[in-house]
This record gives sequence, structure tokens and C-alpha cells, in this order.
Amino acid sequence: MHGAIEKVLFSEADIRARLDELGAMITEDLRGEKVSAVVILHGGIIFTADLLRRVQIPLTIDSLSVRSYYGGTESSGEVSFGEGALPDVEGRHVLLIDDILDTGRTLAAVKRKLLEEMGATAVSCAVMLAKDKKRADEVDVEYVGFEMADEFVVGYGLDYQERYRNLPFIGVLDPTHADA
Ligand code: XMP
Repeated sequence: MHGAIEKVLFSEADIRARLDELGAMITEDLRGEKVSAVVILHGGIIFTADLLRRVQIPLTIDSLSVRSYYGGTESSGEVSFGEGALPDVEGRHVLLIDDILDTGRTLAAVKRKLLEEMGATAVSCAVMLAKDKKRADEVDVEYVGFEMADEFVVGYGLDYQERYRNLPFIGVLDPTHADA
């Protein structure tokens, strides 16, 4: 196991099995729709790559840059959109993909923008993890990999100060090794 990880919450095998289930559900639910998958950078990239290879319908893939955490382990409470061009989702059913649902602010803000400003006809959300806590912004999430306790996790796209995203499992950092 990676030395900086205190405990593994979800192993590679756990993740693989759940991805198979989520991919099958999404394939079934969105068949026949004009689907644009939109991944929230950077946390959602690994989940998206693995998930979409299990979704057996035609779709386009785009991305959005959003920030709500500024390098530490606390949400700033503000959601800001990055500089890059916004995806063209006019008339499309968006499958919005992020790594984790925490306060709900990020997905709620992006979903509002997609529907109210960018012309999406519908938005379904998928996250690998959902923290078991009261949300600052309530948002419906159709596809959740795993529910988890309210603790800070890394791996499988999730970072601490931009590190650990490439761990193939999801775990809790050992605070004494966080900078290792
Ligand atoms: P909100 O609070 O808007 O947060 O639902 C979503 C974004 O916050 C980041 N986040 C985390 N990142 N470990 C991380 O590495 C965590 O435990 C964690 N909780 C929230 C993440 O970027 C997510 O998109």
C-alpha cells in the first residue's frame, strides 16, 4: 500500500465492480438521448475515463473547469468557472460527471449554468463518491458510486494539493505523511 495512506476505503476491485453497474444503468437510462458527457476537471477525469468505456451509447465528451477548493481540504464556499471555452450543449442531455459530492455547491452551480445559460435540455449527474452529510446546496444525483463518511479522501482523481490523483484506489491520507 502507498505509504502516505492511512486506510483504503474503496479498493481497485470495489471500484471496478461498481463501475460495471453504473455503466449498465447509464446505458439503459440514456439510450436514445442526444448525450453529451461533461467532466468537471480535474477531479472527474479518471472516473470519467473508466465510466464512459462502460457506457454503450453514442455520446460526445467535453469538460469544464471549476474551482471550489483552493489547495487544502476545506471548500471555499465559492464556485468559479475557469477561463476555457464552455462546451456546446445546446439541445443535449448532459451527463455531468464529477469525482465527489460534498457540499453540493459545485454540481448545483454547474447544473444551473448548463440548464439556464447553456441550453442543455436535461442534466443527469454522476459522482464516484457522495459524502454522508447535510448539503449546502441540494442537488439530485442520479448515479452515485459509493456513499462515504464525511472525511477527506484522495486517489482515483481526488487530490491533496494536486497530488495522489493517480492512486488506483480511494483512501484517507495519513496526516503525518501528507507531504511525502
Ligand atoms: P462540493 O462541496 O462543491 O465539492 O460538493 C465538490 C468538489 O470539492 C472537492 N472535494 C474533495 N477533494 N477530497 C478531495 O480531494 C475530498 O474529500 C473532497 N471533498 C470535496 C472536489 O474537487 C469536488 O469536485
